[in-house]
Amino acid sequence: MIIYAILAAGILCLCAIGVLYSQTSADSKLDAQVSVFLDNARGSWSGWNISYEDGKVLYMLVLKGKYKNIVEIGTSTGHSTIWLAWAAAKTGGKVITIEIDRGRYNTALENFKKAGVSDYIDVRLGDAHDIVPLIKGPVDFVFCDADKDWYVKYFQILEPKISINGCFTAHNVLWAGQSNINQFLEYLKRNSGFRTYIEKGSGEGISVSCRIKE
Ligand SMILES: C[S@@+](CC[C@H](N)C(=O)[O-])C[C@H]1O[C@@H](n2cnc3c(N)ncnc32)[C@H](O)[C@@H]1O
Repeated sequence: MIIYAILAAGILCLCAIGVLYSQTSADSKLDAQVSVFLDNARGSWSGWNISYEDGKVLYMLVLKGKYKNIVEIGTSTGHSTIWLAWAAAKTGGKVITIEIDRGRYNTALENFKKAGVSDYIDVRLGDAHDIVPLIKGPVDFVFCDADKDWYVKYFQILEPKISINGCFTAHNVLWAGQSNINQFLEYLKRNSGFRTYIEKGSGEGISVSCRIKE
């Protein structure tokens, strides 16, 4: 009887090691593919994409918060989406990303394939003004990088869907003198449900507004 129990425990142990090993090797295969892609593409992005440094900031934020339901407004050719999707692959999450321009959308699709992250992305072609209101909550993490004059509006639409500790982030908030950006930052300052700070990253600025209460 004892021998059977020891045998069963041994088999269970081996199975667990096998599952763990195959997961770890899938993770490191993805890590290798994404990081090679991002390193090779560094400096060659031409669709108003974020910098490598800002991509790293997004990646770390998603990992730290263990965010799963991620929304991006403004895909362009996919640089920021790839960083977000790479993090989502580790948190068990997925990224919905929206782009209005068909050419950039098509290039983004190709880049996602090359980087190996297509499975973690739901790309939507169309106007974010129409698509964002249709997104179902809860949303854990938003990266807003499209039309600046809509930043406040995007925030207002998504605000009720953002989970506790979830964050709404926005790019280019250190663009001095941009009245749309100033209005957006003023709006965040007055919002007592969210705590906002600025990640400086490459210098463009990423505002990070996290929900602290319902
Ligand atoms: C600054 S780029 C995004 C860069 C991207 N986040 C990256 O770092 O790789 C802004 C993108 O937002 C898109 N855009 C602007 N207004 C939009 C709208 N109303 N709906 C969807 N996409 C929009 C533009 O076509 C452009 O490709």
